[in-house]
Amino acid sequence: MAENEIADPGTSTSNQLSRRDVIKSVIAAGAVSSTSYLFRVSKVWAQASAPGSVDRLITLNVNGQQRRVDVMKQETLVMTLRYKLGLTGTKLGCDRAECGACTVLLDDVPHYSCSVLTHAVRKQKILTIEGLANEDGTLHPIQQGIIDEQGFQCAFCMSGFVMATVGFLKTNPDPSRSELAHGISGNLCRCQDYDKILTALIRGAENMRKVNHV
Ligand code: FES
Ligand code: FES
Repeated sequence: MAENEIADPGTSTSNQLSRRDVIKSVIAAGAVSSTSYLFRVSKVWAQASAPGSVDRLITLNVNGQQRRVDVMKQETLVMTLRYKLGLTGTKLGCDRAECGACTVLLDDVPHYSCSVLTHAVRKQKILTIEGLANEDGTLHPIQQGIIDEQGFQCAFCMSGFVMATVGFLKTNPDPSRSELAHGISGNLCRCQDYDKILTALIRGAENMRKVNHV
């Protein structure tokens, strides 16, 4: 019999492999590979809960409410707001910090929510268009200004403009038309209805000063 040829059971010599030897070696190999698999899985599991890894279940302060939500570490705020919390008033336009449709306030400052990681704003107050009106349904003065002047065409960009204006007016409550235009120049309207939009937002600023007695 040639060297390494499989021999009948019980006829194994130092230079020959019996069927029993082959079966034992196959079982041993399987045990080794499954053991390494198990170790690999436990290693991955250990990594997921290792110190420094990101806890996915977090609490966000959105429109004055504490909202528990499961957030991936690479998730942007606009995705969390729209698709996890159902706050679809925040629009997703370019998704690359160019159009302003996704604007929300973070601690009263306008931000593009498509370019902010949700995990990064866990300690901030998030305000979206849904949080502007009073609980009794009374519209925010800026929203009322839009109704007063019938601003916007398709209105896809509207919530972004409104949030940007609300944020800007916190720093300048009585802007000129050109100051407001400059203040919200990070927002684009694909219907290019800028003149009417500005008229509506200036009217909104006037409404706000009346409400605040400024
Ligand atoms: S969708 Fe965020 S800036 Fe356009
Ligand atoms: S009114 Fe249509 S995008 Fe601005």
